[in-house]
Amino acid sequence: MDEGPRYLVTAPAEIAHGVGGVKTTGTSLPGNPIVDKAVMAVTGGFLALFIVAHLVGNLKIFLGHGHLDAYGEWLRDVGQPFLPRTVLLWGFRIVLTAAFFLHILAAIRVVRRNRMATGDRQRPAKTGGTPVQRYAAATMPMTGVIVALFLVFHLLDLTWGTANPGFQRGAVERNLIASLDRWPVAVVYSLAVLALGFHLVHGMWSLFSSLGFHGRRIDNVRRVIATALPAVVVLGNLAIPVAILAGWVS
Ligand code: HEM
Repeated sequence: MDEGPRYLVTAPAEIAHGVGGVKTTGTSLPGNPIVDKAVMAVTGGFLALFIVAHLVGNLKIFLGHGHLDAYGEWLRDVGQPFLPRTVLLWGFRIVLTAAFFLHILAAIRVVRRNRMATGDRQRPAKTGGTPVQRYAAATMPMTGVIVALFLVFHLLDLTWGTANPGFQRGAVERNLIASLDRWPVAVVYSLAVLALGFHLVHGMWSLFSSLGFHGRRIDNVRRVIATALPAVVVLGNLAIPVAILAGWVS
């Protein structure tokens, strides 16, 4: 039976660092490895939900002129009149930023721990799963760095406008088209979306075991999620630069 990707060398990590954070050698990082994994899984799940919601919002560009801008306005208005305008949006941005940094910090700790346990800087070999799952598992740090670097450019491009000469505050649709009409930028977006897809394949797969969910039923559920979610995210997000470059959306 296909059991998905897994590290060949997991036992030494547990031997070196103990279970539940009990230090058994002098080389382990302080803190609890189970907590690091759980933080990575919970924040990763939250970030994945954001990615899906963000895609649903972005796809409004295909509904015709004005829909994406109206959605952008709604994001700023939501919570009114109970809360002043943009307060809910800012609250969400703060939670999102915290989740993003916690995810990176936990990931660094998990990677460092694995490397210290194997005694060298070589990545452990992966076994099991499809070639895509194995590639996704082996390239997690690299795809994570690509997505993080892309995010910096993306915010400069579409939120702050510094990297987008056609930028106008509040004109979401116009800014998006002005940005992705430049083919090098469309290529950068497309490659970043592919990297995100691979990151999600392994992220969605390991989220369950990191939270302690195991078993054949769980494997069936996570196999579907770890395939369908990245596929939807990649195809949906790729459709936007392709449509803009092809002139289907202008
Ligand atoms: C083709 C792919 C993508 C498109 C077309 C796209 C489009 C957009 C647009 C139009 C905005 C500005 C929204 C506004 O001003 O209201 C935005 C903001 C943002 N995007 Fe993307 N995006 C894409 C991929 C991504 C990815 C992969 C991530 C995360 C890894 C991401 C994270 C964000 C964040 C954090 C913001 C700022 C949200 C805010 O200011 O509240 N985007 N995106």
